Amino acid sequence: MKIVYESQTGFTERYANMLGKRLGIEAVKLKDYPAHEEKEEIIFMSWICANSIKKYSKVKDKHNIKCIGAVGMAESTDNNTKSLITSNKTGDTPLFYLRGGVSFQRLKGLSKFIMKAITKNEIKNHKIEGDPEKIFAAGRDYVKEENLDAISEYIKGKI
Ligand SMILES: Cc1cc2nc3c(=O)[nH]c(=O)nc-3n(C[C@H](O)[C@H](O)[C@H](O)COP(=O)(O)O)c2cc1C
Repeated sequence: MKIVYESQTGFTERYANMLGKRLGIEAVKLKDYPAHEEKEEIIFMSWICANSIKKYSKVKDKHNIKCIGAVGMAESTDNNTKSLITSNKTGDTPLFYLRGGVSFQRLKGLSKFIMKAITKNEIKNHKIEGDPEKIFAAGRDYVKEENLDAISEYIKGKI
């Protein structure tokens, strides 16, 4: 079993490497992972863009996906997870939501504009506190080892 991941700004990559270390399995970038004929079992991890798990629709029939780690900015709630399951048609494949973050430095163009607008709105509505300049400089980072507890427990039961 391997962890295969897609990451634009590094949060999913961090989770993939943390999970790999924890379980003693290799984490590889999707672009470096060829479609194996024997359909090796993989854990697929990717980031969420407009409720869509990036590259999932492309890989789901090529690889034997045991479970999905979906990384996004939204708070972790049952409704959010349910909505991801429905929109991405993940069926019986278990999906674990992991809260990632935003790196304004690593984003460009429209993506940066959108994420800044969302953050500005959250500051305005006191969903996040602090000096806006500092928040934009530092970005937002919700990656925590404990967020991987549920997905690791699931995989431990499978290997
Ligand atoms: C254009 C765009 C759309 C996004 N849409 C969502 C979304 O629908 N839900 C969500 O939870 N996060 C959304 N995000 C936030 C990313 O999923 C989050 O920043 C994630 O940590 C990025 O992971 P990466 O660093 O591995 O690329 C969006 C980000 C961008 C740039």
